[in-house]
Amino acid sequence: MLDGKKVLFSGMQATGTLTLGNYLGALKNWVTISDEYECFYSVVDMHSITIRQDPSELRKRARSLLTLYIAAGIDPEKNCIYYQSHVSAHAELAWILNCYTYMGELNRMTQFKDKAQKHADNINAGLFTYPVLMAADILLFQSDVVPVGIDQMQHLEITRDIAQRFNGIYGDVFTVPEIYLGKAGAKIMSLQEPEKKMSKSDENPNASIYLMDDTDSIIRKFKRAVTDSEAQIVYRDEQPGIKNLIDIYCAAAGKTPEETVKEFEGKGYGEFKSAVGETVAGILKPVQDKYQELVKDKSYIDAIIKNNAQKANYFASKTLRKVQRKIGFPDKIR
Ligand code: TRP
Repeated sequence: MLDGKKVLFSGMQATGTLTLGNYLGALKNWVTISDEYECFYSVVDMHSITIRQDPSELRKRARSLLTLYIAAGIDPEKNCIYYQSHVSAHAELAWILNCYTYMGELNRMTQFKDKAQKHADNINAGLFTYPVLMAADILLFQSDVVPVGIDQMQHLEITRDIAQRFNGIYGDVFTVPEIYLGKAGAKIMSLQEPEKKMSKSDENPNASIYLMDDTDSIIRKFKRAVTDSEAQIVYRDEQPGIKNLIDIYCAAAGKTPEETVKEFEGKGYGEFKSAVGETVAGILKPVQDKYQELVKDKSYIDAIIKNNAQKANYFASKTLRKVQRKIGFPDKIR
């Protein structure tokens, strides 16, 4: 609890170009729930280096992502938007928690197995202990809730296990966080292979809508979206392409699948795809415009970065000091 509000923490990596999936599945919800909680939204650049990054590219993308948080509607005066690497307590707590996490637990992480397979030439220790850094992120702020996608569920569970283990030894040090799986939990699939999740790293640009795509490209990509030959707009697993388009339309227009099916009853796929394309372009346009406006205001963004890093540091150090004292590190002499 902070000022009578529950604390919420989440983060995103600044790798790849954000897609409509990231926006509808995460960012848009972050904005909606931000009124209700005391929110910390981090650009988790320390996680990013578990995969080799080009330094200037990483710096650029991190700033761009932070700017996008604001462009999407998160108020940086009310919420703490900051770079993970600006708060050294993340690294310090992660080290400590490493000593309370078992190899066996980390060995079970499916994301580690996937990433190790994908990056077989660089299976570094950081990739292995990635979930511990994530636990540190969350526990540093005594977070009550953490909105994440299903793919991060295992990391949330290990975070809870670490917190409970630590509390079991030292008393109530950490708030044990709850996972927050948004309402619709919009999971957006690829436009070309609707059985696959829409991904920043997809090599086919027609498979994903990027947040910065212009209106024409968005409409064109939806027109080319893979569907089926059933010629009916119904919401069922047997028509994954159409189902995905309905999900996207619902998330973008704030409608339910039933309403959508009714709205397009008897209409052709062409007309439906155009409607989805236009609706999506319509919701992304204001975000894009705001982003372009913010990018020009360097000193404003710099001030946000500075002030929020200070705020995050303040809260993070409080928890870190408490932990250090509990485990027996000597007090600093001031
Ligand atoms: N691992 C998360 C992802 O890739 C990002 C992340 C890092 C995160 N630290 C976090 C998410 C803490 C929620 C809370 O999506």
